[in-house]
Amino acid sequence: MLVDGTPYRTVDWKDGQLVLIDQPVLPHTFSRVSMDDHLQVARAIRTMVVRGAGAIGAAGAYGLALAARQAPNGDFDAYLAQAHRTLADTRPTAQNLFYGLGRVLAAAQAAGGGERPDDARDAALTEAQAVADEDAAACEAIGHHGAALLEDGVGVATHCNAGWLAFVDWGSALAPVYRARRDGKSVHVVVDETRPRSQGARLTAWELAGEGVPHAVIADNAFGHMARQGAFQVVIVGSDRVARNGDVANKIGTFGRAVIARHLGLAFYVALPSSTIDPDCPTGADIPIEERDGDEVRWTWGATDDGGFGRVRTVYDGCPVRNPAFDVTPAGLVDGLVTEHGVFPASSDGVAAILAAAGRL
Ligand code: MRU
Repeated sequence: MLVDGTPYRTVDWKDGQLVLIDQPVLPHTFSRVSMDDHLQVARAIRTMVVRGAGAIGAAGAYGLALAARQAPNGDFDAYLAQAHRTLADTRPTAQNLFYGLGRVLAAAQAAGGGERPDDARDAALTEAQAVADEDAAACEAIGHHGAALLEDGVGVATHCNAGWLAFVDWGSALAPVYRARRDGKSVHVVVDETRPRSQGARLTAWELAGEGVPHAVIADNAFGHMARQGAFQVVIVGSDRVARNGDVANKIGTFGRAVIARHLGLAFYVALPSSTIDPDCPTGADIPIEERDGDEVRWTWGATDDGGFGRVRTVYDGCPVRNPAFDVTPAGLVDGLVTEHGVFPASSDGVAAILAAAGRL
């Protein structure tokens, strides 16, 4: 997508290095960081320099390709296996990370692994590139299918950031909005702030401004009231992992939005590339939910009046907190899964049909 007229990908490969948009400093500063070591990539995923399901899937894939380049000829397989574990241990919930890592590891092994390390290195990088390109293409296709659900003049609510910063390009939940807008429809977006890390306020609003989409950020608590007031008619969120029965894990707070939408009869869609589906996960109860550092709840941060960037504590010193990063929305509350292959019911049959369309059944 465009930043000041220049096209960027959230996760890119340039001159033998992985290049990431530095997300914690957005929207105050736009900058990119380059890395050539898989341990740097692991740190970037853990600290959320790169975040969002598709983006960490592509970054992890490139990270493992970098590890293949770093691996000594005599110890290639063990080094790659250890790097795979290190990258997989960074964040537990988003399935795309394990999907990307799995594809790169399998490609390196199929090319000969430690028996033919140079071939394995080439194959790993080619596969990482394919994971990234497919992520961008899938999200663009989600835009086409999802835009058909949006009437001219519609109000859309979204939670967290499932835009292009959460993927390689386009995004999942926001791709239909961008497509509809580029097709000439009028769409306005209500953006949940999404505490504690405020991905809605910091990232989604910045993205929407860049695409010229009218929007307003609301405090998280305002969602139900705004829904009742008719501020939006459709809710579209992303997902970090979808179970085989259609249950959906997404940013903490999503479940409550789905309950409110159902209560008020508003459409509630979940947009995702098929790489977010975990065929080994029978139900949402089997999805691991990340619990992050409590300081994300204790402190908030942003631009300061003097033009700097800083944080402030909002609770008393040492206050106990809890910080679950995701929740599970039962399939029964989801009106449709918007994927690169079309819109499917959130059910066992719907998920099986998506996997079949993706050639993964
Ligand atoms: O913790 P994050 O920022 O990596 O969480 C990911 C998200 O932004 C969302 O839950 C999103 O809606 C789905 S991932 C595209």
